[in-house]
Amino acid sequence: MYFKSIKITNFRNYETLSLDLHKGINILYGKNAQGKTNLLESIYVLGLTKSHRDFIDHDLIKNGEKNASIEGVLKKDLFPTTMKINISQYDKKLELDNTRITKHSLYLSKANIIIFYPDDLELIKGSPTIRRRYLNLEISQLDSSYYVILNDFRKILKMRNDYLKKISNLEYYDTNYLEVLNKYYVDKAYMLFKMRKKFIERMNEYNKKIFETLSQIPNFHLVYKSSFDLTLTDEKEIKEAFMKKMEHVFLTEKKLKMTLLGPHREDFMFYTDDIDLKKYGSQGQQRMAVIAIKLSEIEIFKKYKNVTPILLLDDVFSELDKRKKNNLLKYIKKSVQTIITTTDLTTIHKKIKENAKLIEIENGKIKHIEEVKTNGRKK
Ligand SMILES: Nc1ncnc2c1ncn2[C@@H]1O[C@H](COP(=O)(O)OP(=O)(O)OP(=O)(O)O)[C@@H](O)[C@H]1O
Ligand SMILES: [Mg+2]
Repeated sequence: MYFKSIKITNFRNYETLSLDLHKGINILYGKNAQGKTNLLESIYVLGLTKSHRDFIDHDLIKNGEKNASIEGVLKKDLFPTTMKINISQYDKKLELDNTRITKHSLYLSKANIIIFYPDDLELIKGSPTIRRRYLNLEISQLDSSYYVILNDFRKILKMRNDYLKKISNLEYYDTNYLEVLNKYYVDKAYMLFKMRKKFIERMNEYNKKIFETLSQIPNFHLVYKSSFDLTLTDEKEIKEAFMKKMEHVFLTEKKLKMTLLGPHREDFMFYTDDIDLKKYGSQGQQRMAVIAIKLSEIEIFKKYKNVTPILLLDDVFSELDKRKKNNLLKYIKKSVQTIITTTDLTTIHKKIKENAKLIEIENGKIKHIEEVKTNGRKK
């Protein structure tokens, strides 16, 4: 799949911009602070409705303006889809082919995007929240029902927490109501657990080989830290064991007024053999680990969804040494839409440049475009 074109208005430092994208490699280049990352970000937001680097939507709106919009034509199957997102101070409106969409999951199922950027390292170094956010977003892209279940889960979690608050100081309360809440809670939590477990297992089908190619270190894998018992296989048993754990912590939950077990408390870790890379990995290994899991994702999208996702690479080449750079480049192909930003075109391999559309960005505008020649560019 690829974005054929993109049109943005009042987004970050852009007033208006219309750009046709190449279905293969596109390189956005220019000096610092000109808007390369912003443009890349706009593509990410268009596809996935959220920024990869900013939790606050209205930061995306150009200073002094009230609304931002991003529109793009996505080619996937036979027919193109026009995707559009309007961001105001208060909300976001989504459109597919000029029709307002209120179901986020439907919109999210359209474009698949994988991004690589310098702060990716946070995925391994940062808090579990960052990793859960990653899991939620990536699994939603693979299966939009995950997003629906996640929302149901959040609702029931809120209800349960509200109830815990309400009964926190009470000795007597409606145990029947709590039981109903618990049952519903466990059902939704279990569904998320199952999908997360499957996702991590699928990632591990590729992680080892990819990481080894990148870094020559064997046995890289992810380890899922769940509130559910990963050693059990039977649904009923898993749920019962989880319920038991819930009973154990109930008095603490009541005192703390919050739910302590479940998908909102889970995590995953990065290992080579039994070495925890978060604790013991070098910066370079950590970077490779993050790149490896993202490359594994590409394979998962291909195998289980039959699509090649769009790749966004923000300034990643300047961070890597030559060998790692070359290893990463193996995965970038003409057949995958890839959008790369760089301040320095010389850091990008000649083979890639020859087949890329070059777009120079200056102060929120396009300064220069060089199209791809059909038989490659001689440079
Ligand atoms: N909401 C906004 N409104 C207006 N300008 C903004 C907004 N958000 C960011 N900017 C501006 O965008 C510019 C940064 O753009 P961007 O991060 O895309 O730069 P870049 O070309 O990727 O630079 P670098 O090479 O350093 O990564 C800054 O000048 C910043 O002030
Ligand atoms: Mg940048």
